[in-house]
Amino acid sequence: MARVLSGIQPSGKLHIGNFFGAIRQHLALQSENEGFYFIADYHAMTSNPSADELRKRSLEVVMDYIALGLDTNKTVFWRQSDVPEVTELAWILSCVTPMGLLQRCTSFKDKVAQGLSPNHGLFAYPVLQAADILAYHSNLVPVGADQKQHIEVTRDIAQRFNNFYGEVLTIPEDYILDEVAVVPGLDGRKMSKSYDNTIEIFEPESSVKKKIMRMQTDSTPVEEPKDPDKCNIFALLRLVASKEEIQEWDQKYRAGGVGYGSTKKRVVELMHEYFRPYRAKRTELENNIDFVKQVLADGAARARSIARKTLDEVRKAVGLGA
Ligand code: ADP
Ligand code: TRP
Repeated sequence: MARVLSGIQPSGKLHIGNFFGAIRQHLALQSENEGFYFIADYHAMTSNPSADELRKRSLEVVMDYIALGLDTNKTVFWRQSDVPEVTELAWILSCVTPMGLLQRCTSFKDKVAQGLSPNHGLFAYPVLQAADILAYHSNLVPVGADQKQHIEVTRDIAQRFNNFYGEVLTIPEDYILDEVAVVPGLDGRKMSKSYDNTIEIFEPESSVKKKIMRMQTDSTPVEEPKDPDKCNIFALLRLVASKEEIQEWDQKYRAGGVGYGSTKKRVVELMHEYFRPYRAKRTELENNIDFVKQVLADGAARARSIARKTLDEVRKAVGLGA
């Protein structure tokens, strides 16, 4: 059985773009593989959240994942910072990581180009990510296409380490998540917390409704034919409607005579129906924080014992300790 590992940054409330683009796929991978998922709170520190924000958001992501179907009996789920061994491993790996490899990372270069004044954590981010992956001898790392380069960097670092010190680390494969579902945000751009155009998975139904009803559409009159492939509301419909219903709406669009208002109303209903069972579970968890903390504690214990073993082997291989 392959070990599938991925980290989720607790950098804001999870939105339906995260759900359809990543979370749903993470959860699907649990059944046939050994799932290892964690809250990347060390990584989130690179954008300097306040202590309260970081703690609160981390717990929220955990509750979101459990409510959405994380199998707490099978999948190992923990908070990155509960396994501090990864930071020691990151240091050791950083000593076999050429500067140039990190300087070429586009996610770092993009942030600098946007005018962000980078801290060292942001520069060293991919090395910590490599430590996350290598500490647990992960085989598959499901990530969005934007993270592919970081997995290549991980493979490169692991190979360099093994060349210097012997075959200690497992070289992971990347696993690029299905990009079919790039979910549009309220303004038509990709839904992203950085664009402030999101629908959060667990925001109140009334607010989901308000947002969808106000989504931007073009000004094609009701009677004219419309192109479903160019409509943001239609893109949301595709995520939550049955195949037959999508087909029906497709024909109605092309025939003309249907206004965006009616599609919006239907999307609101379907969105509510889709998330309603998860919503109930989410509320239940909020009232049972002890259970949530126990899941994290159990996950941390499992994860930590594996990371400890890897680190002992790594320390021995590089000449640290007795
Ligand atoms: P954000 O853009 O809100 O900061 P992240 O970059 O933290 O989101 O993304 C976390 C995961 O969710 C990634 O795997 C990413 O590919 C996926 N994701 C984010 N936004 C979307 C979207 N609009 N459509 C599809 N997938 C998305
Ligand atoms: N960098 C990833 C992101 O922003 C999060 C992450 C941290 C991660 N460590 C990881 C993903 C290890 C996969 C494996 O989405």
